Amino acid sequence: MRRRDALHLLGMAPFANLARSLERQAAPAKPPDVEIVLTAAPAEVSLLPGAPTRVLQFRAKLVRGPADTVTAVPDSYLGPVLRLKKGQRVRIHFENRTGESSIVHWHGLDVPERADGHPRLAVEHGRDYTHDFEVTNRAGTYWYHPHPHMRTAAQVYQGLAGLVLVSDPEEDALQLPSGAGELLCVLQDRRFDAKNQFVYLDAGQMGGMGRGRGMMGMGGGMGQMMATMNGWLGDRMLVSGRVQPAIDVDRRTYRVRLLNGSNSRFYKLAWSDESPITAIGNDGGLFERPRTMRTLTLAPGQRADVLLDLSSHAAGATVQLRSVGFPAGHAGSVGMMGDTSPVPQGAPLTLMTLRVSNRQGPRVAAPARLSSLDWRAQPAAPVRRVPLTFMQMTWLLDGRTFDMAEVSAAETVKAGSTQIWEIENQTNPMGMAMAHPIHVHGTQFRVLSRTGGSANALRDGIHDDGWTDTVLVLPGETVRAQLTFSRHPGLYLYHCHILEHEDMGMMRNLRIT
Ligand code: C2O
Ligand code: CU
Ligand code: CU
Repeated sequence: MRRRDALHLLGMAPFANLARSLERQAAPAKPPDVEIVLTAAPAEVSLLPGAPTRVLQFRAKLVRGPADTVTAVPDSYLGPVLRLKKGQRVRIHFENRTGESSIVHWHGLDVPERADGHPRLAVEHGRDYTHDFEVTNRAGTYWYHPHPHMRTAAQVYQGLAGLVLVSDPEEDALQLPSGAGELLCVLQDRRFDAKNQFVYLDAGQMGGMGRGRGMMGMGGGMGQMMATMNGWLGDRMLVSGRVQPAIDVDRRTYRVRLLNGSNSRFYKLAWSDESPITAIGNDGGLFERPRTMRTLTLAPGQRADVLLDLSSHAAGATVQLRSVGFPAGHAGSVGMMGDTSPVPQGAPLTLMTLRVSNRQGPRVAAPARLSSLDWRAQPAAPVRRVPLTFMQMTWLLDGRTFDMAEVSAAETVKAGSTQIWEIENQTNPMGMAMAHPIHVHGTQFRVLSRTGGSANALRDGIHDDGWTDTVLVLPGETVRAQLTFSRHPGLYLYHCHILEHEDMGMMRNLRIT
């Protein structure tokens, strides 16, 4: 008989309560609600006719939790979709079988320091790392990807990325299209060689993994350097790991969740039938109300949640998701030759084709009110200026490049405190600048204003609604944002989400005390 039951029998109930609380303190923590083994390892996927493509891929095994927590993405290199619920305690055992050092980051989620995937936590090939966190974020579209020092871009490019979909009661109550009514679209670009293998930068720069993995050089240090400074662009478009897919859809309303999982490419999204984009959410979940946009700019790292009504389309009709194109200079570039990619930044692109069938499904109007952002302006919060600059062939964040341990006084903030950041994208004396998507770990923030810059096609598609974790700052612009930092103390990061910029050091520590 357990002690507290014995106390009950003796009529000593108050002591039973005490005994119970002592037992709880002594007992090991309750098992998590969700437990997953997540393995990153080489794999082969058929992406183009002919030889399969060698990739790196996340695979997951659900050890504990609801059966729909893990869903593999068929015919893709992408990692499985992880469906989590607000309030769940999650344990993820990461198994690094990539052949090099790695660690996983939960982009957009506010998790304890030990779970955030800072590069100093990276583990060697063959080792494991356990991430423990509670889901405290609002319902929304988040994602996971590796975050090792100077290898994030290469590992994501090789295929390591996946979606995390968080749900909560507020969102459930809206009964948005789900299941077959939901299209999950991860937008990425890749370059392939004649043997269907991914081409990324110079094999010599790829370290141990690149050699023998089918990497081809792009010829010379100069091209290499330019590709790093301007960001690496592919010439084939992939949606959720499939090259320009054609997808059969019903005559119904879809919830389309978009992630720009590209290393460096910006998209100015539009539907080919010129129906407007009905956006209902972004990085940090649903907006207060839907908004209608002609085009939607999506920078690397950012997400968009969109409703698409196909219920009145004719059977046999097709609708394409496109990037309508914009002058390359509006994203900016550096170097004498600028962007030398085969399909340059800003080129018009077709991402995927939806083929409307004759099956009719439910039509769902966008709810007039989607969510409560639960937000308060704090105009008296301390202001921090964060310049984005280019000097001596390097991108700088607040005048510095990344150092694993270094944190400046301005980068040391109190847990749960609020600041206003003025992120200022400066043009260098040679007139060069680039658009930078600036991402902050452990928080979702609000954009207050956007000033400066000049007429810009990408800007037309920027909305600045809702909560965000990645804000695009165009050349010459200053973005004012109000940030409330994570309640978890520890060493976090903020950086440019052009992954080549991040790897070359456009990243800094953020110390939460
Ligand atoms: Cu998605 Cu530190 O990044
Ligand atoms: Cu992140
Ligand atoms: Cu950048």
